[in-house]
Amino acid sequence: MKPNMRPARPDFSSGPCAKRPGWTPEVLKRALLGIPADYRVGIVPASDTGAVEMALWSLLGARPVDMLTWESFGEGWVTDVVKQLKLRDTRALKAPYGRIADLAAVDWTHDVVFTWNGTTSGVKVPNGDWIAADREGLAICDATSAVFAMDLPWAKLDVVTWSWQKVMGGEGAHGVLVLSPRAVKRLESWSPPWPLPKLFRLTSGGKFSEAIFKGDTINTPSLLCVEDAIDGLRWGESLGGLKALMARSEANLGVLEKFVAERPWIGFLAGDKAIRSNTSVCLNIVAPWFTALAADKQAAAAKKMADLLETEKAGYDVGSYRDAPPGLRIWCGATVEKSDLEALLPWLDWAYGEIEREFDAKAA
Ligand SMILES: Cc1ncc(COP(=O)(O)O)c(C=O)c1O
Repeated sequence: MKPNMRPARPDFSSGPCAKRPGWTPEVLKRALLGIPADYRVGIVPASDTGAVEMALWSLLGARPVDMLTWESFGEGWVTDVVKQLKLRDTRALKAPYGRIADLAAVDWTHDVVFTWNGTTSGVKVPNGDWIAADREGLAICDATSAVFAMDLPWAKLDVVTWSWQKVMGGEGAHGVLVLSPRAVKRLESWSPPWPLPKLFRLTSGGKFSEAIFKGDTINTPSLLCVEDAIDGLRWGESLGGLKALMARSEANLGVLEKFVAERPWIGFLAGDKAIRSNTSVCLNIVAPWFTALAADKQAAAAKKMADLLETEKAGYDVGSYRDAPPGLRIWCGATVEKSDLEALLPWLDWAYGEIEREFDAKAA
């Protein structure tokens, strides 16, 4: 008779050898981030955008939606919900670049979509106090430039997304989608009226697709990217975990805060420290000669500064995002060394001196 019991893990290879009992790639993430054990952690296609859009397309429509937005990525999610999903019962609570929307205006009987850290404006939510513990709607959070760098109140978040290439400096490709038990319940109790491509499907026959959250992927992932993401997590753990990663990022922001405090010509786009990002730090030039320029001239001068830094190999890609006010954006996540930021500072002074000199020469 053929036996009908099989080893649960028939992994008898002499190399690579079996993982310890209970191991999944998710244990590393869970341990590092303190994600509750009853939350699901899945690897999904198309980076952070894929993870967010899967959540929006799969979960929304059951309740009114509050969209919070203070920069271009949050705006992108509003476009998805209003123009693509065409959800009528939607409110967009907006703030201009450098500020944050009125968090007290959120209605927690609604589903709420927000970006924890607005990468293009350098603005983050100050904490999770404004998220109702007894909310009826789901808190859907794009955390791609926050996770591993900021303290996320997991119990108050129902959907959290990120991509590997952000704070841990991994590779772009697949993203991570974390779901609370309430989000899973929504998936099993609500079928959106619109079609869902295979890439977005988190249920099968009305049942939650558990396999996606146990290491299966919907389509083919890059295993090189997976290994690289695991390497990043190991590095984070070797430093001392989340607290150490957050401390590195905070210390990096501290370098720029000291620099800004000592110079009259530069400021933070997020003037209020409580909402100032410690990852995507956005700086603006506040010297009167600069602020008196027309918007296109300001953009050109700020771009010149970023270009000079790049040409001198002192700082790559430090210009502000194309939709953001002109200025500089300097990534301060944990993978950046404080000593490198310190070495950048004299170059910032130098590049500013160059654009100021050019302005003076033209004015003369
Ligand atoms: C806040 C935020 N959301 C979404 C994205 C898009 O991420 P991805 O390219 O991983 O899809 C980014 C990328 O910078 C981001 O900063």
